[in-house]
Amino acid sequence: MGDIKLPKEIQDQIRNMPMLSEVAHRLLILTSDPTHSIGDVLKVIENDVYLTARVIRISNSAVYSRGTEIKSIQRAVMHLGERFVVSVAVSACTGELMTKPLKGYEGPEGSLWAHSLKVAIAAREIAKFTFDNLSPDQAYTAGLLMDIGMSVLSDHLLEDPAKLIKLVDENKASDFIEAERLSSGADHTSIGFEVAEKWNLPDSLSAAINNHHRPGEAPEQFRSLAYTVHLADLIARMSGSGIGIEALAHKLDSNYEKYIKLSKKTIESLIIVVMEEFALIEKSILST
Ligand SMILES: [Fe+2]
Repeated sequence: MGDIKLPKEIQDQIRNMPMLSEVAHRLLILTSDPTHSIGDVLKVIENDVYLTARVIRISNSAVYSRGTEIKSIQRAVMHLGERFVVSVAVSACTGELMTKPLKGYEGPEGSLWAHSLKVAIAAREIAKFTFDNLSPDQAYTAGLLMDIGMSVLSDHLLEDPAKLIKLVDENKASDFIEAERLSSGADHTSIGFEVAEKWNLPDSLSAAINNHHRPGEAPEQFRSLAYTVHLADLIARMSGSGIGIEALAHKLDSNYEKYIKLSKKTIESLIIVVMEEFALIEKSILST
């Protein structure tokens, strides 16, 4: 169970959501396991004709191609990197859920996907600075999925999206999560947690999704991951993303310093990494 009991109509909506495809599910489980190899990832992708074709097509796009045509999935994955391939698989199987406009947050079409990709890239980089040597793959996947609950909650915030900000500004809610709860009886982290449970995602991912705005409340063994995606969220926002009214609404928990050693200078350089890598991915996806 998440932190709160969700209203019945939200529970029903989650129950009716499609399951992840077998391939996406296996890729998410694999990349959450720090001991996996690239060979394991290849074995999963090879079983999916559509994903194989899409990955090869992207690796031959104008952005990634370096003159020689790539014909095999092995070379394509080496060329693009396995994390990129995971994001293509998640995008292919979550489809509309990640890309639809989030009207309840005044977020345009594609804003959730763009923000999630930036969080994933930032989380992968931050993982390299964690005291417990968190797996960058695991951090990337957690970043990619952490806001999935917004896609559901958005449909229940339509009456007055600006109310969320007002509740925080007028100190009627202590933070944006509480404002969501006051407005709808639910918040996007608890909904995301229930979606992760429905999809049978690993406990590490469920915990990161459930606690990404209140990382101090994550179970101890997942707290480093929760702080990593929490900080990644902020870095993605500093790189210019965010979802409509929610973009500047969340606070940073500075206790991240107990889990991650990052200087101000490194944070600044990460913002640039996120912006550059995102621009490249966006271009490659648009051109295929
Ligand atoms: Fe969030």
